[in-house]
Amino acid sequence: MQTIPTGYTYDDVMLIPKRSRVVSRVHIDTSTRLTKSLKLNIPIISANMDTVTEAKMCIALARLGGIGIIHRFLPIQDQVEEVLKVKRSESVLIDRPFTLSPEQTLQEVRVLKEKFNTGGFAVIDQDNKLVGILTTRDTLFEDDEQKKVKDLMTKSLITAPVGTSLERAREILQQHKIEKLPIVDETGILRGMVTAQDIIKKKEYPFAAKDRKGRLVVGAAIGVKDDYLERAKALIDAEADVIVIDIAHGHSENVMRTIRELRQQFSDKDIQIMAGNVATGEATEDLIQAGADVVKVGVGPGAACTTRIVTGAGVPQFTAVMNAAEVAEKYDIPIVADGGIKMSGDLVKALAVGASTVMMGSMLAGTDESPGKIIFRNGRRFKIYRGSASFGAASGREQRTTGSDAIRDDIDQIVPEGVESTVLYKGPVADIIHQCVGGLRSGMSYCGALTISEMQKNATFMRQTSAGWRESNPHDINVL
Ligand code: XMP
Repeated sequence: MQTIPTGYTYDDVMLIPKRSRVVSRVHIDTSTRLTKSLKLNIPIISANMDTVTEAKMCIALARLGGIGIIHRFLPIQDQVEEVLKVKRSESVLIDRPFTLSPEQTLQEVRVLKEKFNTGGFAVIDQDNKLVGILTTRDTLFEDDEQKKVKDLMTKSLITAPVGTSLERAREILQQHKIEKLPIVDETGILRGMVTAQDIIKKKEYPFAAKDRKGRLVVGAAIGVKDDYLERAKALIDAEADVIVIDIAHGHSENVMRTIRELRQQFSDKDIQIMAGNVATGEATEDLIQAGADVVKVGVGPGAACTTRIVTGAGVPQFTAVMNAAEVAEKYDIPIVADGGIKMSGDLVKALAVGASTVMMGSMLAGTDESPGKIIFRNGRRFKIYRGSASFGAASGREQRTTGSDAIRDDIDQIVPEGVESTVLYKGPVADIIHQCVGGLRSGMSYCGALTISEMQKNATFMRQTSAGWRESNPHDINVL
């Protein structure tokens, strides 16, 4: 008869407090690596779920030092656009600025302004030469919706050459009292844009996680079927920092084949691949050997997951992360603990047992930055949070990816492995991250560690009983 091992989850264990040389939490360094070459300043990733992560979430999170992964349940071009929104949002040099043609109408401009949430466009001719710039000021009191861009734009332009330093760009903006500085090459072709807003934001978010070009980092998910290679190519062209191959049972030949295909097709590019989800050391090893730069661990721990209930399969998350980390360490490959984080203490335990980062869904759902509208019910505010394999997500997916609203004819074939839910509206995601990072800093201090890797070396755990868990929570009082 097989010996059945015990699987633990976060609530089953506690970190044993250690002698601490940390005199103040401000000395604690929360930086980590997502992959060997991609550094983050906080170890938090937002889940690639359609009720959690699109550009708005990614921008907010990267500004705070983490990263968001844009979900794949939308047409390729829309997913690419979400990546580009992040890349354009805050870089000292926007290398692909929003552009207009001189023949477009004010009506079209208003639609694009709304879509891209921007007030300024460079105007280029058919040879990509800069011919003008159109900002909110140019259109403020214009009522004629059919007026052409060429009749509205500012034509006398202040520009700067390719290679202009940030300091010089700042001087030019100040000297001419302008907010946007187009960068053009010697033939007049538009090569980028520097904006005053971005220079201000650089100071506002000193902790931001940025790529080599000074733009916020962002990841994007793909699957292993249908348009996955076309999607991957489009996302890589858009310069997503990490491609996440994400399927429910990641220990599969499909995932390994996809990793190898990406490595082969994009051998000329330094692409970073995250692959998952897995729950064992063997699976972690297989994905690493297939070429994954980071492995995503978690089968069934998520708040909206029913995989374990529906299929009977999974591994309690603390044990899954511990086993995966043990194997990944031999290869010096980081792992992501994905799902099941309910409070900052879980995040500390996940990192202490070996994850380099954690992915969170429900904790970040219901915020201003998560997709979806606020719902009012009995005087309280909620937002929708749903599992990617829930009935609503699966049946609505076709409509979102193809644009067709025809009802699927195989609807009775769907076997959901997730649920749809409401979560309380929580306000700005920065408030949640602040609590998580605060808890992490204190947790590291209890482990006597100044860095995450020091915490991983120092950490020892104790198994707790259900009485211990009860004692850990507020008890025998009326909590206000
Ligand atoms: P949390 O607990 O942070 O978990 O909300 C987020 C993670 O849950 C996973 N996920 C699912 N798992 N069925 C599942 O079994 C689903 O429908 C589902 N949707 C999301 C995913 O790994 C996510 O990052």
